[in-house]
Amino acid sequence: MPSPMFLVGSAMVAVIGIAAYLPVIRTKTLLEGAEVVPNFGMEKCQRIAVPSYCDDVRIQRNLNIGFLACDPSFPYRNYAASVFDESKIKEDGALWVYDLNKRGSAPEKLTIKGFKGPFHPSGLTFAPTSDDGTPARVVVLVVNHVPLETPRVEVLYYYPARKSLVYKKTISSESFHAANKIGASGKVTHLNDDTPSFFVTNDHGYNLTNWKREYEEKYNLPASSVVYYHPRADRAQEVGWRFQMPGAIVPADAPDSYWLALGKGATLERYHSHMVSAEHQEQRIRAVDTHEGITVAWPGMMLEETIHTKKVNIGMDYDAATKAFYTVSHPKWNNYLQHAKERLDDATPTGKVGFVISKGISYTVRMGEVRPKPLKDVEFDEDEFPRRFKKKLFLEDVVSNDGSEFGAPSAIAATGDRVLVSSHYDQHFLDCDLS
Ligand SMILES: *[C@@H]1O[C@H](CO)[C@@H](O)[C@H](O)[C@H]1NC(C)=O
Repeated sequence: MPSPMFLVGSAMVAVIGIAAYLPVIRTKTLLEGAEVVPNFGMEKCQRIAVPSYCDDVRIQRNLNIGFLACDPSFPYRNYAASVFDESKIKEDGALWVYDLNKRGSAPEKLTIKGFKGPFHPSGLTFAPTSDDGTPARVVVLVVNHVPLETPRVEVLYYYPARKSLVYKKTISSESFHAANKIGASGKVTHLNDDTPSFFVTNDHGYNLTNWKREYEEKYNLPASSVVYYHPRADRAQEVGWRFQMPGAIVPADAPDSYWLALGKGATLERYHSHMVSAEHQEQRIRAVDTHEGITVAWPGMMLEETIHTKKVNIGMDYDAATKAFYTVSHPKWNNYLQHAKERLDDATPTGKVGFVISKGISYTVRMGEVRPKPLKDVEFDEDEFPRRFKKKLFLEDVVSNDGSEFGAPSAIAATGDRVLVSSHYDQHFLDCDLS
């Protein structure tokens, strides 16, 4: 007869075993993807050639122009897929501008005046503008990830009238150890050069040459972080931890708030900054712009909303003016990974890698339900039922392709229902009208 202690011990081992096993299986199913990837919605999209591969696309909505961060060397430096061979990287990347006012026009490559040194762009973002009309100058921030170096952020000025891009300065920090995407949504700016505060995601917790990276990949560990940069302190520090492969960070509805798309986490998460503890968040510093003593506040990012997508979300965008909400995801992450490895070896790809665009649609739900269902027919009357119903975002797939026409998405940008999607392995991007 086994002792009661032994029985309790065995039961505990079994419970812990199952608790560890289920998330592993869930992640495995997510990364494997659906058996068949359906094809629909491509007629709403146009393929636009860009003679490069792009890691990010963003839209400057005042000017109605798209910016793409592209690099012909991308097949040899896909950090998000943990694939790289620095010996094959010969050419520099560049930023490209695409005029949304002229549908189907060719994107134009921009040279950066005054910039020297290698340029391998990943994420990019624009400083928020106070101009309602067309700003004469836009501050552009771009993550420059040179192989075997810590990524840094280049501050550039774009003058739309002349289509000219000018180098301003470089921001370096140890905290940018695996920086990929970037989002500027704050209120603080450097008083002399207009550098805004910004958030940067690290796609992994460890860099490519760190031995821990292998384990992070193998066990899909949530080790990534979000970093905040304060332009007047000229200092960056981590403000978010334990993320599972973030692929996009975009401004949400309020300053110092953002949406984060988590690839292997299969969620979209909205964070907002709160002053939780002035003692811990406020700091006296000497401002780098005015050289005066000032008090700066570090964001206290708190999770406000989570959407479970059951998808490997690689990109998302949110247009606060129109409330347009779009994501792009990998239908089969493991196929994409296989493709990345084949492209690194210059081998002929064995399979196709597709993409899915999903649209966030707001439906009424009943309050208090653990997994509220969309009540598509319920008319939401705020006066009559102020507490029984609320609005909640649900994602619906609007374009899906198995890779025969487009695939390997890297980012999505939206202005209203006009949507651009960039690709890591296709020398085209998509321009879609999804209204
Ligand atoms: C990568 O991480 C290792 C270990 O922390 C460190 O020694 C190395 O300098 C880092 N490399 C880069 C390019 O940051």
